[in-house]
Amino acid sequence: LEQQTNWDGRRLVKYDGFWLSEIVLRPILSAQKYFKAKDSDIILTSIPKSGTTWLKALLFSIANRNVISIDQSPLLTSNPHTVVPFLEANLYLFQENPNLQDLPSPRIFATHMPFKILPDSIRESECKIIYICRNPLDLFVSQRNFLLENKIEKDAVPLDIDAAFDLFCQGIYLFGPFWDHILGYWNAGLKNPQKVLFLRYEDLKEDITPHVKKIAEFIGSPFSPEEEKQGVVDQISRLCSFENLRNLEVNKNGYILEVLKNSSFFRKGEVGDWINHLTPAMAERVKDLMASKFDGSGLTFKI
Ligand code: A3P
Repeated sequence: LEQQTNWDGRRLVKYDGFWLSEIVLRPILSAQKYFKAKDSDIILTSIPKSGTTWLKALLFSIANRNVISIDQSPLLTSNPHTVVPFLEANLYLFQENPNLQDLPSPRIFATHMPFKILPDSIRESECKIIYICRNPLDLFVSQRNFLLENKIEKDAVPLDIDAAFDLFCQGIYLFGPFWDHILGYWNAGLKNPQKVLFLRYEDLKEDITPHVKKIAEFIGSPFSPEEEKQGVVDQISRLCSFENLRNLEVNKNGYILEVLKNSSFFRKGEVGDWINHLTPAMAERVKDLMASKFDGSGLTFKI
């Protein structure tokens, strides 16, 4: 497999057209071989730094609202990544074929796998896929800060911003190129909107309420008029808000997988922070890249 050094000094391998960190390749192959999706499953997908943590919290709360009351939510005492595991970074990382059969329905899993790399049963079953994407300028800035904050290789020297940006524009990004990752799910959603719900970080930031309702409808459990009257939609939105999650003790301290700081998943949570980090020329380069890669797809971004 073709190899490349990532911005933070970690090794990437190219698999089926996508750059994967070396650590997740084996778990991805195991998931492809053993994971059997059930029709009732909900699979949350994204390229890293698109708002995965937020969507995990929202989806978990929406799907379990009749089982777990909001003031008892496990999100109050655990990071969203502990509550909703990744197939490749949690479950199949530690066991080749973990027993996931007996988990209560709906099972909720997350993955950064591109659409075409997903285990076949996810595409072929009736399970639901929810994808979240984010404008590439903020994606880059978020990932850069995240990698600096969680320097994993002891001796690695992280690339300076220009070099990292250059790799980003060549498509070298965890689970990238970003354009192929996003387009894979965008096209799948256009083809089968019952199967793939395509969300944008910027839209959720603009107005969370209709998106909480949309997610509930998409997974087949719309809010009842009584729930709406009781303010359940607002309660969930508030529980999962950036300010609330970031200020919980659990997310201020501690680590996930012993190396990633819980706090590093809650940095700024804004749209357009790229303006504080990228030069106008860098922004132009990404905009040109987007114009060429997304041309004719119908996909647009708010930046
Ligand atoms: P910033 O680095 O721009 O702040 P992911 O969850 O996919 O790793 O993405 C992380 C990004 O989502 C970070 O962006 C983080 O701050 C932001 N984020 C995390 N929780 C959020 C929330 N509840 N609401 C809005 N943004 C959130």
